[in-house]
Amino acid sequence: MKKKILEILNARGGYVSGQELCELLGVSRTAIWKNIKQLKEAGYEIEAVQNKGYHIVSAPDVLNQEVIESALGSLPYKVCYKSTVDSTNTVAKQLGENQSPSKTLVAAEEQTMGKGRRGRIWSSPYGKDIYMTLMLRADIMPENASMLTLVMGLSVAQAIQKTTGLDTAIKWPNDVVVNGKKVCGILTEMSAQMDYINYLVIGVGINVNGESFPEELRDKATSLFIETKKEWKRAELIAECMRRFEENYNQFLETQDLSLLQEAYGKYLVNKDRPVRVLEPRNEYNGIARGINTQGELLVEREDGSVQQVYAGEVSVRGVYGYV
Ligand code: BTN
Repeated sequence: MKKKILEILNARGGYVSGQELCELLGVSRTAIWKNIKQLKEAGYEIEAVQNKGYHIVSAPDVLNQEVIESALGSLPYKVCYKSTVDSTNTVAKQLGENQSPSKTLVAAEEQTMGKGRRGRIWSSPYGKDIYMTLMLRADIMPENASMLTLVMGLSVAQAIQKTTGLDTAIKWPNDVVVNGKKVCGILTEMSAQMDYINYLVIGVGINVNGESFPEELRDKATSLFIETKKEWKRAELIAECMRRFEENYNQFLETQDLSLLQEAYGKYLVNKDRPVRVLEPRNEYNGIARGINTQGELLVEREDGSVQQVYAGEVSVRGVYGYV
């Protein structure tokens, strides 16, 4: 009921009378009043004006099933919200095993075993940041799955830019960067046969409202709060990411590659024309990053003029002079 009230008030923008809410939801005035009271207790500032009705003045940065669903509106994602999880990727993989529908989005307030790329830990304190994982049953070849990580990276970069007005960039393949520092990391995992994907999970961690980082991370990591000095509503940012993803994913599915997204991605690519060091499992070299191809591979020009296509698997690419 609270979710429906929020949906109606958000959609209208202005005032909605108590009578209209009763009719739309088929409940009594008292029920509406009780739910509005609970929403106020949860931090919503809702104004009630005689002869006009209710109107949302401001909403808190709350994260729960109802708030996320209401922010997603008609987007085709099923939400699985949990307060605490070991890792949203792990939960999403269990949902993948259990025949949950494609496009299930797991989100949590905190992770006790948040995972980063290359076996690293992803610090995941309570109530500040976004930890979410999208489970997809994508009808694509396993070798094309890493492109979806780039699709998500692009979507997050666009969503942060649209929501906060900050200039975002992407450090290939999928770190989202603001002012040269990482604000989002993405970890994709999949369960696949040789030529078939059972499911894949795309885990996204965004540093949203954290106010500081440990000393050793301060020159590499940042948060939206640090960059803007403002607190952001995580549910709205989640919804904007998913709106962008829905659009970009549909474009990806049209060609099963990045042909239609290459240009948009290229505009965000922070490494473009910069010296990079490529660290492959058994090989390391320097070059100049020139862009990506339709497969999402980074094109790196080596000293001898040859162009290497770097596949976004187990490879890491660093700026020669720092993080980007
Ligand atoms: C990276 O190392 O840059 C990737 C970090 C990915 C972190 C996110 S937080 C949500 C999801 N659950 C995890 O355990 N990891 C990803």
